[in-house]
Amino acid sequence: MLIGGQPHRSIWRDAKSGAIRIIDQTRLPHRFEIKTLGDLEAACEAIRVMRVRGAPLIGATAAYGIHLALAVDGSDGSLDAASDALIATRPTAVNLRWAVERMRAVLRDVPVDARAARARDEADRICDEDADACESIGTHGLGLFESLATARAGEPLRILTHCNAGWLATVDWGTALAPIYKAHAAGIPIHVWVDETRPRNQGASLTAFELREMGIPHTVVVDNAGGHLMQRGEVDAVIVGSDRTTASGDVCNKIGTYLKALAAHAHDVPFYVALPFSTIDWSIEDGVAQIPIEERSSEEVREITGLTAEGEVASVALFDAASPAANPAFDVTPSRYVTRLVTEHGVCRASRAGLAALRASAPTSD
Ligand code: MRU
Repeated sequence: MLIGGQPHRSIWRDAKSGAIRIIDQTRLPHRFEIKTLGDLEAACEAIRVMRVRGAPLIGATAAYGIHLALAVDGSDGSLDAASDALIATRPTAVNLRWAVERMRAVLRDVPVDARAARARDEADRICDEDADACESIGTHGLGLFESLATARAGEPLRILTHCNAGWLATVDWGTALAPIYKAHAAGIPIHVWVDETRPRNQGASLTAFELREMGIPHTVVVDNAGGHLMQRGEVDAVIVGSDRTTASGDVCNKIGTYLKALAAHAHDVPFYVALPFSTIDWSIEDGVAQIPIEERSSEEVREITGLTAEGEVASVALFDAASPAANPAFDVTPSRYVTRLVTEHGVCRASRAGLAALRASAPTSD
């Protein structure tokens, strides 16, 4: 997708030097900084502090992290240690484990001195496949938006989204934002309500940035506004991404998603979840009971970062450190509140049967 009119990915390998580059998302939208991931520890740190974030992107970063570790030491011990270190960075998004397991399966039988190159090629493949999958999600989601747009008779389709599930959260295109990009390109008038997404403000900082760069009309709202907007008939559909979806269609996503789903259910607003198959954890059924929810630092709740009048990026405290703060980063929306899942292999009901049918029709062993 575009920054300053130029096509960009969120992670890439430098064509000349082979270095792994990322956009440092902790600096957006006020600063655009590119960072090089020079070794395994840099990859782990980037995931941990959320220089890269979003389920598909942390999977892709982990794949390059394995490559970086094997470039120093291609042994089984190095592969095991790198896998453990990467998986320990963040617990909820299953793409991280998916990518590490895929790399291990590919590398197991490769001679030690050939592993780094093979890991690099596989990480490249993961990135390209993710970009293709997300573009397909966009195409399938466009079909849903076209139906809704007909009812709007030329008035803008009003879509609400939570967190950032755009191209910055994947390698390219995004999940929830991919159908929005496709709809915009197809000439469907669209307006996006962007939840600010406290405490890390991925909506205000990243989704609004993406939409602005792509020329898509949008309005940032506080997280508590969604119910009000839906009650007044100002939202035609909600679409979000996912960090882990169970085999029965329960959806884990950024904290606050569940409340949006409840409000959408109460007001008959379609609630769509867009995700690649790499986000499905086929080994579990009950999202509320079985998905580990990341608890992040209370500092993220207490402090807020922004641009001062002098143009400096600065943090301020919102409340006294003597008041404890809790920071669960994700929540689970049970499948009964999800209208449809939108994947690269098509659209289905959020149910075991719906997902199983799509899986059976998928061209590979996804
Ligand atoms: O904590 P984050 O910013 O990594 O959380 C990201 C989300 O919750 C996204 O909605 C999810 O990863 C889907 S991204 C395509």
